[in-house]
Amino acid sequence: MKGVVLAGGLGTRLNPLTKVTNKHLLPVYNKPMIYYPIETLVSGGIEEILIVTGGNNAGEFLRLLGNGKEFGLKHINYTYQEGEGGIADALKLAEFFADGDPIVVILGDNIIEANIHSAVDTFKKQESGAKIFLKQVDDPERFGVAEIDGKYIRGIEEKPKHPKSNYAVTGLYMYDASVFDIARSLKPSDRGEFEITDVNNYYIKQQNMTFEILDGWWTDAGTFESLFRANSLAAEKYQGKQSG
Ligand code: DAU
Repeated sequence: MKGVVLAGGLGTRLNPLTKVTNKHLLPVYNKPMIYYPIETLVSGGIEEILIVTGGNNAGEFLRLLGNGKEFGLKHINYTYQEGEGGIADALKLAEFFADGDPIVVILGDNIIEANIHSAVDTFKKQESGAKIFLKQVDDPERFGVAEIDGKYIRGIEEKPKHPKSNYAVTGLYMYDASVFDIARSLKPSDRGEFEITDVNNYYIKQQNMTFEILDGWWTDAGTFESLFRANSLAAEKYQGKQSG
């Protein structure tokens, strides 16, 4: 399976940190943020990776990551998203790269503790559709929130004022090749973005969506609080490895 890191957008919630640099180049403990989602894909045995960049300093991704040797990759593919049209808009740029194969998509500001190898293997056995990964959180109103009913997801609401559960939809998604037709069929949301939640709800309506609860800790890093949390969690993990 191929992997896509979505690292476009303008990161305005982190202003002034993102005024002159790209959010995904900011440090998370001892590495630039973008290292974490790449390492997650590599942990799933993904060898072909596309980075969708955007905003400020997009050229620095090439200087930082090169051909991906540091991650054990043979090469990395890059593309550029103009503006901030939303996650599903950035995803559309991966169609040529995916070339009809299923894909694992990860948001460039998501930091995941767990190895995703077994999740990738499970999805490879799923004939069609999509898979998302949920995590219980204290502040669901900041995320896409899933309403679940046993083994099924009834629907996802993007940043609801009154969340129906505390299961946040994390920024790790697995899709079959129909995702690009779905993304193209969407209309922009009230905030003017093409929403990944609309893509996921489409699969849910088709009854072609599975989910798992993500192992280990997970955080995004797109606000001051979550960036700070990401730094602490990454530091604890790193220090645990050093002393263990
Ligand atoms: O972190 C998980 C959450 O990510 C999900 O629960 C939400 O359903 C999903 O919409 C998303 O919410 P955010 O509001 O946190 O997304 P944000 O705009 O911060 O974008 C997250 C990443 O997606 C960003 O680091 C890069 C990528 N992105 C975002 C936009 C808006 C793009 O590549 N292009 C874009 O235009």
